Amino acid sequence: MTNEPTFWVRDIPIYGDVILSPMAGFSDVPYRALCRAFGSAMNYTEFVPVDSLQGKRNPLWNRLNKKPDEHPIVFQIFGNDAHMILRGAQRILELGPDIIDINMGCSTRKVSGRGAGVGMMIQPKLVAETFRLLTKHLPVPITGKIRLGWDDERRNFIEIARIIEDNGASLVALHGRTKEQKYNHEADWDAIAELKQAVRIPVIGNGDVRKPADIDAMKAHTGCDAVMVGRAAVGNPWIFARKDRDELTVREIGDTVRLHLREMLAYYGDPDGLVLFRKHLRRYFSGYAVKALMRPMLVTEDAAEFEALLQKLERELEPEEG
Ligand SMILES: Cc1cc2nc3c(=O)[nH]c(=O)nc-3n(C[C@H](O)[C@H](O)[C@H](O)COP(=O)(O)O)c2cc1C
Repeated sequence: MTNEPTFWVRDIPIYGDVILSPMAGFSDVPYRALCRAFGSAMNYTEFVPVDSLQGKRNPLWNRLNKKPDEHPIVFQIFGNDAHMILRGAQRILELGPDIIDINMGCSTRKVSGRGAGVGMMIQPKLVAETFRLLTKHLPVPITGKIRLGWDDERRNFIEIARIIEDNGASLVALHGRTKEQKYNHEADWDAIAELKQAVRIPVIGNGDVRKPADIDAMKAHTGCDAVMVGRAAVGNPWIFARKDRDELTVREIGDTVRLHLREMLAYYGDPDGLVLFRKHLRRYFSGYAVKALMRPMLVTEDAAEFEALLQKLERELEPEEG
């Protein structure tokens, strides 16, 4: 972290150039806290459908929970109607977002098939109207996260980024794949470079950053202001400290598992925090042959038993460290 901001989202200074991607089911309050402690420069919530923000509060609102000192925090929402997106955004102002982001990248049929997520990208007028309304009526910066387009024939990311910039957006994040590519094929970093040349607002590059060296490689290749890390950050908060997984000791992994689990238990309660932690646990020890040792850890609902099993796993693995 430097004293000078790395870049600005309108009037919000951002310190640092690596950011945890919004990921439904993963970028929750506990994991964001952990990634932030390791160096993630800003936090995005999991995305929230604007329909759920119109009436009474419901469980989906919990996705907008944040720690009191969690800044900068970006609330990510999605929808397919500009006025409904505006109303949703206005409702959540009271929760204290620093920035509101419109998801225009989700490729699942449930979202994109209804004209939301990446489905917005084939409706440039809807994109323009949404950003015009939000930037006019909301005091916080409005940003967008996009893909390359719907498919190879409709790679309109430059057009969409210019539309949001012209309608007041303060940042654009680009995942270098089309909707059709979902999460397959290599992310197109040339496209991120092209976008950086095409707009004045800050650009976040996203896609296939798997190890610390990729952060600087993507920045050098594209000139982007920051890099967003999704899948490679699961079970790997060290990437935000630019530390390679193969530099880690078993003890370091174990201690981080403890830290993460403590955050999970504090936030979700006991045993829910432990149960929800299971999907992270596997990823912490990916690369290690620990299937049998891990099996009971993935079943227990008792935090003390989990700790004993973790210690056993550490003892078994440590001799391998030499
Ligand atoms: C499990 C999962 C959930 C995701 N949820 C969201 C989301 O809520 N909002 C969003 O903008 N992108 C979401 N994404 C996409 C990621 O933010 C990111 O753009 C994508 O994974 C590509 O980056 P990566 O190659 O570093 O994983 C999700 C991805 C995954 C794998």
